[in-house]
Amino acid sequence: VVVINLASTERLVEEDGPEYATLAAFEAALDADSPAIGPAMLYAYTALSAGIPYGNFTPSVSADLPALVELALRTGTPVAGKDGKTGQTMIKSVLAPAFKTRALRVEGWFSTNILGNRDGLALSNAGSLASKVKTKSSLLDDILGYEVEDHIVDIRYYKPRGDDKEAWDNVDLRGFLGQPMQLKVNFLCKDSILAAPLAIEIARCLDLAKRRGLGGPLEEASVFFKMPMTREPGAKPENALHRQEAILLEWISRF
Ligand SMILES: NC(=O)c1ccc[n+]([C@@H]2O[C@H](COP(=O)([O-])OP(=O)(O)OC[C@H]3O[C@@H](n4cnc5c(N)ncnc54)[C@H](O)[C@@H]3O)[C@@H](O)[C@H]2O)c1
Repeated sequence: VVVINLASTERLVEEDGPEYATLAAFEAALDADSPAIGPAMLYAYTALSAGIPYGNFTPSVSADLPALVELALRTGTPVAGKDGKTGQTMIKSVLAPAFKTRALRVEGWFSTNILGNRDGLALSNAGSLASKVKTKSSLLDDILGYEVEDHIVDIRYYKPRGDDKEAWDNVDLRGFLGQPMQLKVNFLCKDSILAAPLAIEIARCLDLAKRRGLGGPLEEASVFFKMPMTREPGAKPENALHRQEAILLEWISRF
C-alpha cells in the first residue's frame, strides 16, 4: 500500500513554524487541535505513523516538514515530494541546463499558463496560488547558479480550456559579445495525461524503496517533482531533468 496526495492545492504555509520543528511539537499541536495542522499534513502523519510510504504530488506543505521527516525516519517509511513536474516546469528543467552549458545568460523568463480544470479553479484562490507559484519558481536559480531577477510565473483559470492546459514561455537570453536573443515555447498539453503516469511511477518507486528497507526522503525520485525533498535537511536538490533521470536509473539498478 502507498499513499499519494492528489487532493486540491492547499494555502501556502510557512514551514518554519514551531509546530513543525520536531515530531513532539507536531503531536502536541495535533492534540491541541491547532489550525497550523492542515489536511495534507494529517494524511501524511497518518500514513507515516502506520509505515505506509507517502508521496506528495501537490504543492501543499505536508511531509516536507522536519517533524514528519523525523517520523518517516523513525518508522522507516519512504517519503517523496513535492508537486509533480509534469508540464511547463519539466520543460524549464530541460532548457535551463542547456542554456547553462552554452553560457547563454538568462536575463528574464516569463512563464504563463491558462487552464480550465478544477485544479485551475482551486488556484483562483490566492493562498493556493501562492503554493503553486512557489514550487514552480523554485528550481530555475538553482539550475543556473545565479538569480534570475525577472522570473515571472503567472497562472490563470480559463474555463473554456478544461484540462487542455496551455503554457507559454518567453526567455530573454544574452549570448557571446552580449548579444540579446529570445526563445518562445508554447506547450499545448493535457494536464491529467501528463500527470497520471507520473503518479503511478512515484507509487512504484516508493513501494520499491519500502521493499528495500529504505526510510526517509527518497531523493532518487527527484525527477518526478518540482521541489524535490532531500535526504540532508536544507540541502539543494538536483533539478536538471537529465541528471535526475540518471540518478533514478542508477538507484533502480543498484540492488
Ligand atoms: N498535471 C497535473 O495535473 C498536476 C501536476 C502537478 C501537480 N498537480 C497537483 O495535483 C493535485 C490534483 O490535481 P487535479 O487536477 O486532479 O485536481 P482536481 O481538483 O481535479 O482534484 C482534486 C480532488 O481533491 C479533492 N479534495 C480536496 N481536498 C481534499 C481533502 N482534504 N481530502 C481529500 N480529497 C480532497 C477534491 O474534491 C477533488 O476531487 C493539485 O494539487 C495539483 O496542483 C497536478
